[in-house]
Amino acid sequence: MDHFLYRNGHLHAEDVALSDIAAAVGTPFYCYSAATLTRHFRLFQEALSPLPNLVCFAVKSNSNVAVLKLLGDLGAGMDVVSIGEYLRARAAGVPGERIVFSGVGKTRAEMRSALEGGIRQFNVESDPELEALSEVATALGVTAPIALRVNPDVDAKTHEKISTGRKEDKFGVPISRAREIYARAAALPGLRVVGIDMHIGSQLTDLAPFEAAYTKMAELTRALRADGHTIERLDLGGGLGIPYTRSNDAPPLPVDYGAMVKRVLGDLECEIEIEPGRLISGNAGVLVTEVIYRKKAEEREFLIVDAAMNDLVRPAMYSAHHDIDPLVEAVPGEPLVPVDIVGPICESGDTFAKQRALPLLQAGDRIAFRSAGAYGAVMASEYNSRPLVPEVLVSGDHFAVIRKRPDYDAMIARDTIPDWL
Ligand code: LLP
Repeated sequence: MDHFLYRNGHLHAEDVALSDIAAAVGTPFYCYSAATLTRHFRLFQEALSPLPNLVCFAVKSNSNVAVLKLLGDLGAGMDVVSIGEYLRARAAGVPGERIVFSGVGKTRAEMRSALEGGIRQFNVESDPELEALSEVATALGVTAPIALRVNPDVDAKTHEKISTGRKEDKFGVPISRAREIYARAAALPGLRVVGIDMHIGSQLTDLAPFEAAYTKMAELTRALRADGHTIERLDLGGGLGIPYTRSNDAPPLPVDYGAMVKRVLGDLECEIEIEPGRLISGNAGVLVTEVIYRKKAEEREFLIVDAAMNDLVRPAMYSAHHDIDPLVEAVPGEPLVPVDIVGPICESGDTFAKQRALPLLQAGDRIAFRSAGAYGAVMASEYNSRPLVPEVLVSGDHFAVIRKRPDYDAMIARDTIPDWL
């Protein structure tokens, strides 16, 4: 169910009109729906049930502490890729036993902090990382629970920049070397093998690559058990895609994904961990922006809006499509006019959409970029000295600012001028 719908001609987030939030906090702003986050998280839990499972939200997709608290309170685990994300999860009240630490470049300092603070498992991606983690754990007098991220050499058939499971990608250890590296891990004093980890890419719209990877995981589980390892957890990564348009083919649903997981891995008596980000947070958020100018050029018309590529970089970075809804619903029969929607930043890449058919919008009108709850605010920067945009969480008929708009003085005060200048 979509919680961003028109009511009486005005786009709402649950029971709150987005224009009321715009009036209160100004534009641009991100707005998330608590009901959507909750529903998407539960869909995964239900899809994997009755297998024992832990749904670890990929914090990289949306790391606002309020969002993490909402999910953590529902019982979510967290998948983190830096100590910064780890600390955010802890600040949201998520216990270390529910946090898995992924990523190819964990530093020793990060390993130490996570071991001291409590951690469910490290997903280790290379031989040198194994050695480093064992040393750090031994020095602390503890053993680190680990899964090896195994690269199954499966093409996820997704965008080049977010495909991670082919042998030419930087992620994981080659599956052909997995048994050898597990043997090394078992011999190291600071480590305890608990499972296997895979993550083959993001925005997958087909279950076949997942199934190919998980079939290899099942074979590897049996082989490693025969080698004497305890494999009690299987971390399947994230990556299930979402619909970015209303019109295109809908990607597989969590329930279909869950049925496939049960079929391929269900008889191994393992606890299943998954790391979804986009599917939980993507369609739980919008970015609301206001038209500054409508500008006519020779060839086309532009809507210059007050959000820019620094606020939502996906269109510039991946040529990603985001649906656009005016906050005031088009009147039936109203003509739609093709227009380019661009931000104020000084480069042509600062384009959200080209020749998009929209009602004739004017300065002061507002629009929402849909599907902006994942990889939106988290990828924002202050390019062009534009402060980060605020984030708002709606639940039912109330809303709260969960990250306020920084003021310019605070932004500038982060820089220091050396006394010799
Ligand atoms: N686990 C690991 C180890 C990951 O690297 C990722 C995403 C996830 C889980 C979550 O994947 P998801 O369920 O969200 O697809 N910035 C890009 C997406 C990058 C994804 C990176 N890794 C975008 O805006 O499309």
